[in-house]
Amino acid sequence: MKDWTKEEKYRYLKDPQELKELHEKTICSKYRQNYHIQPVTGLLNDPNGFVWFDGKWHLFYQWCPWGAVHGLKHWYHVVSDDLVTWKNLGLFIKPDGIYEYDNKGAFSGSAVVIDNELYLYYTGNNRDENFIRHPYTCLAKLGADGKEIKWPEPLICPNPDYTEHQRDPKIIEKPDGKYNYLILGAQTKKMCGSVIIYKSDELPGEWTFAGELKVPGFEQFGGMWECPSIEHIENKDILMFCPQFIKLPGRGDGTNHCGYIIGEMDWETLTFVPDGDFEVFDRGFDFYAASCANNISDKNKAIMIAWMGLSGATYPTDEEEWSGCLTLPRELTIDNGKLVERPVPELIKLRNEELKYTENALGCIKLPEAAEIELRFSSGSCDINMFTDAQGEGGIAIRYNDEDKELILDRSGMKTRFNIDNGEERIIKLFKGLSDLRIFIDKSSIEIFVNDGEAVFTSRVFPTDEENYMMIKGKNTFSKIWTLKSAVKEEFVI
Ligand code: FRU
Repeated sequence: MKDWTKEEKYRYLKDPQELKELHEKTICSKYRQNYHIQPVTGLLNDPNGFVWFDGKWHLFYQWCPWGAVHGLKHWYHVVSDDLVTWKNLGLFIKPDGIYEYDNKGAFSGSAVVIDNELYLYYTGNNRDENFIRHPYTCLAKLGADGKEIKWPEPLICPNPDYTEHQRDPKIIEKPDGKYNYLILGAQTKKMCGSVIIYKSDELPGEWTFAGELKVPGFEQFGGMWECPSIEHIENKDILMFCPQFIKLPGRGDGTNHCGYIIGEMDWETLTFVPDGDFEVFDRGFDFYAASCANNISDKNKAIMIAWMGLSGATYPTDEEEWSGCLTLPRELTIDNGKLVERPVPELIKLRNEELKYTENALGCIKLPEAAEIELRFSSGSCDINMFTDAQGEGGIAIRYNDEDKELILDRSGMKTRFNIDNGEERIIKLFKGLSDLRIFIDKSSIEIFVNDGEAVFTSRVFPTDEENYMMIKGKNTFSKIWTLKSAVKEEFVI
């Protein structure tokens, strides 16, 4: 793997043509996705600034153009009419060294529509000559030409009472009718993860520090909380964040997680009162930095998208000098006090033809490279293996044991194994047993929705040319397979 020097990682992009050759090489990869947002070149991580604006869905992603490395982060802009088909609009926030507040990258943030204009709040990752980090909360506006207009000065300077880890601004618009709040993920001087809160009566805002979020029972839960948000769905508040530097049961040696606590937010006392425990959004291996769309009209749901990756992890495409993609967008609702995650209904549009699936002599079904598979189960245990060879061997195993109602995802049978330290098996106990699975496969990913949204397993997979069969053993009553259309284009737009 390439060893990157600091100069190479943090090089400023002068001319888009510098990336042309890398793009041409990138799109030759057999692991390029058909319907997931992926980087034009280099590395993609968090989704940013997800919002409904001007009759379209706008979304940005953290992008390091130079290769599979967490170097100089830019914001790259994509749009969609329907949350299904995405179009590349090109580079948006561009660190150039002239604007010193983001001299080493434009880190994650969120979008707000103010008076019919789109404002993007982000973290300016400033580093001084000793490479010490100074995080600023910066602002950029979407100009009429689609380009960024940066605010001359940052909105919020580094808070001296916290470490250098303060980032990922999210605006919560006037929840108490008085103030808008801006929250940042932070690390206390005692090295605990937390959320710090600023308030302003106007937007874009003159922000003053309001205090630290109190979350009783979670005072010592990880060493940094990245990408926080507080979403309101029906009559519940959902505190979302990514605790780092903490191991959680059943998640291998991994120390980065992305999840939520359901509860009630009291803006007067800045206290989030949990109803229950921290839950991960996703039981798979590659899911991080989830973010919900702003400015959606239906207050009974949220629309969430995430990075199908993990920081600190390496992926097989690193060798090909690119990395990362986003998940499918999901709809979040609350049912009986529990969070339910379903693929957004628009994704039905991806369906192409329904396959009359045929089994080979061994009972294996050949998988298309992009497909949706729906399985409904009657009672009993079952084993499903995805990405097996033509003999039904290997692949990712989905095993359900009806006696203890446990569903296991085991990726150790894949020929290409990676990030093994994070564990290769994930288990969930299902509330009432397994009734259905909706599985989306793309060229290098699998998303498994269990029981119409009770749980989700999302993972990158890098099947070899032989690993393209599925094998089902057990009492499924009903299966359907659709091939899926392409929804992203390999456009070189910078
Ligand atoms: C999460 C994160 C954010 C940060 C961004 C930098 O993956 O570390 O906290 O803003 O990525 O790319």
